[in-house]
Amino acid sequence: MKVAEIFHSMDYGNSPEATDMAMAWLAKHQEGRLFIAGKWQKAKGKTSIKTLNPATGEVLADIAKANEADVDAAVKAARKAFGKWSSLSGHIRARYLYALARHLQKHARLFAVLESLDNGKPIRESRDIDIPLVIRHFYYHAGWAQLSEQELSDYRPLGVCGQIIPWNFPLLMMAWKIAPALAMGNTVVLKPAEYSPLTALLFAQVCEEVALPAGVVNIITGDGETGEALVRHPDVDKLAFTGSTEVGKRIRELSAGSGKGLGLELGGKSPFIVFEDADLDSVVEGVVDAIWLNQGEVCCAGSRLLAQEGIAARLLAKLKSRMAKLRLGSPLDKSIDLGAIIAPIQRDKIAALVAQGIEEGASCYQPELRLPTQGQFYPPTLLYNVSPAAKVAQEEIFGPVLTMMSFRTPAEAVELANNSRYGLAASLWTDNINLALDIAAKLKVGVVWVNSTNMFDGSSGFGGYRESGFGREGGLEGLYDYLKPKWYQDPKTSLETQPQVTQPQATQPQVEALVENLSDPSIDRTAKLYIGGKQSRPDSGYSRAVLDPQGRLISHVPEGSRKDLRNAVEAAHKAHSWTSISGHQRAQVLYYLAENLEVRAPEWQKRLSLLTGQSAETSALEVELSLKRIFSYAAYADKFEGTIHQPPLRGAVLAIPEALGVMGIICPDERPLLSMFSLLLPAIALGNRIILIPSERYPLMATDLYQVLDTSDVPAGVINIVTGPSASLAKTLAEHLDVEALWSFRPELVSMVEKASVGNLKQVWAPLSLPNWADDKAASGRDYLRKASQIKNIWIPYGE
Ligand code: NAI
Repeated sequence: MKVAEIFHSMDYGNSPEATDMAMAWLAKHQEGRLFIAGKWQKAKGKTSIKTLNPATGEVLADIAKANEADVDAAVKAARKAFGKWSSLSGHIRARYLYALARHLQKHARLFAVLESLDNGKPIRESRDIDIPLVIRHFYYHAGWAQLSEQELSDYRPLGVCGQIIPWNFPLLMMAWKIAPALAMGNTVVLKPAEYSPLTALLFAQVCEEVALPAGVVNIITGDGETGEALVRHPDVDKLAFTGSTEVGKRIRELSAGSGKGLGLELGGKSPFIVFEDADLDSVVEGVVDAIWLNQGEVCCAGSRLLAQEGIAARLLAKLKSRMAKLRLGSPLDKSIDLGAIIAPIQRDKIAALVAQGIEEGASCYQPELRLPTQGQFYPPTLLYNVSPAAKVAQEEIFGPVLTMMSFRTPAEAVELANNSRYGLAASLWTDNINLALDIAAKLKVGVVWVNSTNMFDGSSGFGGYRESGFGREGGLEGLYDYLKPKWYQDPKTSLETQPQVTQPQATQPQVEALVENLSDPSIDRTAKLYIGGKQSRPDSGYSRAVLDPQGRLISHVPEGSRKDLRNAVEAAHKAHSWTSISGHQRAQVLYYLAENLEVRAPEWQKRLSLLTGQSAETSALEVELSLKRIFSYAAYADKFEGTIHQPPLRGAVLAIPEALGVMGIICPDERPLLSMFSLLLPAIALGNRIILIPSERYPLMATDLYQVLDTSDVPAGVINIVTGPSASLAKTLAEHLDVEALWSFRPELVSMVEKASVGNLKQVWAPLSLPNWADDKAASGRDYLRKASQIKNIWIPYGE
C-alpha cells in the first residue's frame, strides 16, 4: 500500500501483542489448584470448569470447582490468619500492600495479556486502564493501612470477608475487594467468576512472592454453587459481591439475619445526558468510552444516551459516522476498539434484547464491520427512536448497545435519567457549570461524571443507589464497609446474651403516685397516628392497650396497618423539600423542636417512669440525654460535610453525603425515649423523611410528641408515626418499594426485615445487638449520620 493510499484510508495494520509469556504461565498452571492457607491445594471437589478464550473458543485452562469442603477450608484458613493479621501494625500491613502493588507492576504486561486472553477485552484497555488502576488501588490502600491507627482508631476490622466478583473487570474487581479489606486488617476468601479466573490465580502467585502471611488471601475458583457455599458459610463476617442484580438479591436473602456485613455492587442503566451547548465532538468520543469500553460489559456503561432535542439529529449523524470507524477484532491486537464478548450465552442475550428493541419500534444502526469467524463478537449497535418504557431502555443489556432518546428541558432530562430501577452512574455534558452541578445534584445515582465518563480511582468511592446496590468501593467512604465501630458487639452474640437494660426500678409508692397522674387531664388517653402532619385514626379501627409494669391500663394506641403505612409513605414522599433545604435551615427547625421539648421535660420524666417503672432519677437522665441528642444533631445538620477526593486528575471529585430519602425506623423497647430520638434525629438532620414505628411496648413516648410537632416548624410529612405491632409494620415497610431505607433496631426482626427488603434492595441497618443508648459514643454521632446518608461522587475534570 502506498503512503498516499494510507493517508486516504487512514487505515492501519494489525499489531498483535505477543502471548508467549502468558502461554508459558498457563502451561504451568493447568492443574486447577486452589490457593488456600498460602498453599496451592488440590480441590476436594471433583468437577472442573474450562475457561475459554472468548475470541477463539479455545480452552485456556481447566479450573477447579471448589466445593463446600474447599470453601470451608478456605474460610478456616482466613479465620486462622485473622488474629495475627489484624493485630499487625498498620505500618506492617501497609508494607505488604506496597509490596503487592510493586509486584503487580513488575508483572503488569503478563497480567494484561492474561486478562485479555481470558476476558476478551482489548489489550489496549487491560494494559492502559485495568492494570494501572489495579496497581493504584493497592498503593492507595497501602496508605490507608499506614494511617489506620491515627485516622480510624475508633474502628476495628470485621474479620473474614467472602468476596465474589464478576467477569467483566476480573483483576480490577479483585483489587477493589481485596485492597481495602486487607488494609483495614481483614482476611479474605475471594471467588473469581468462572469465565475469567486466571488473573486472580496469578495474583495468588504474587501473594506468595511477597510472602503475604498464609491465609490472609485465599483464592478459590468455581461457579455460582461455590459462590453460594461461601455466602452460606457461617464463619464469614462480611460478604462483598459485584455482579448481576438477580444474584445480588439472592445473596441478600441468603445472608438475611446472619449478622454478616453486606456490600452489593450490581447492575446499571446509566444515563449519558447531552445538553445542546455541549461540544459534540467531545461528546462523541465520550460515548465511545461510555458504551464501547470493554464491549459495553460494564456495570456503569453509559448505555442510555439522552440528547437534547436541538442537537439530537446532529449527534446521531456524528455518532453513526464515528461508529463506522470503530475497529473490532482480536483482543490482542493493540489497535482495536472492541474485543470479544465473554461467552456465547452473553452474546445471545445481547442479540435477543436488540431484536426485541427493534420489535418494540426502535431504529437500529450497526456499522458494516467484518466480524471474526471464530469466538463470539457483537458489533457496536445504536438503537434510536427508543421509547422510555421499552425493554432496551430499562434492562441492563451488558453489551455494546447504546439506546438513544431525546428530551426538551433539563427537568425532563432529570426525569428520564431517574426513570430507572438502577442508580449507579451518570455522565452529563454541557459547557454550563451551573447546569451541570444542578443536574448532578438531582440525579439518583452514586457517581456523576461531568463532561467525562467511566473514570475510576482508588481515592473515590464507587457504588450505587437503588437496585444498583449499596456500599462504596474506594475512598475513605469505602473503608467503613470493612470496619465496625469499637463499641459494636460481635453480631454473633446470641440474642439471649444481648445486654439487658438494667435500670433501678421505681418503688411501689412512686408508682402509686404516678398512677394517680392518670386522672391528670393533661395526659392524652386517646392517641392517634401522626401522618402528614395530622393526627389520624387508624384504618383498621383497632386499638391496643398500653399497660404499666403492673399490668394496669394507661392508654390505648391505634393498631396501625398496611393502609396507614401507605399513607405515611405517601406523606413522606410529598415532604421532599425537607431534603433539598439547607442544613442550616434544618438545624434551625431542630433547635426549635429541642427547645419545645425541653419545656416539657418534667412531663416526659413522669411519663417514662409511669410506663417503664424506672426511677425518677433514671427517667430524668433519659430525658436529659434525649434532649442532648436533639441539640447535637441540630448542630450536626450543617456539619456532616463531604470531601474533595484527589485522584490523579486535573479536577475535583466532590464526595457529597446525600439523604437516603424516605426511611422507616423501627424503635426498640429499651430506653424508649432515648433510643427513639437517637435514631430519629440523625436521620432527619440529614434530610430524610421518616415513618417511625415507636417502641411496641412504650408507644406513648412517641404519641406524646404530636403536640410538640404541631407547634414546631417540622414540616408535615417529615416525621410520620404509626403505632402498632412492630413485626408486621416492619415487614410492610421492608417490602414497600417506595421506602428507600430501613433501620430496624429490634434484633428479633433482623432476619425478616433483611429478607423482606429484597424487592427494591433498600438499604437496611438492622444490628443484631443494640448499643448502650446512654453512651454518647456508641449511640450517637458520625456512625449514625453515615448510615443515614449515601455518598455521591461527582467528577469534575477541568481545563480547556
Ligand atoms: P452473575 O451475577 O451470575 O455472576 C457474578 C459472580 O457471582 C460470579 O463469580 C458467579 O460465579 C457468582 N455467582 C453466581 N450465582 C451465585 C450465587 N447464587 N451465589 C453466590 N455467587 C454466585 O453474573 P453472570 O451470570 O456472569 O452474568 C449475568 C448478567 O449479569 C450479565 O448479563 C449482566 O447483565 C450482569 N452482570 C453484571 C455485572 C456488574 O458488574 N454489574 C457483572 C457481571 C454480570
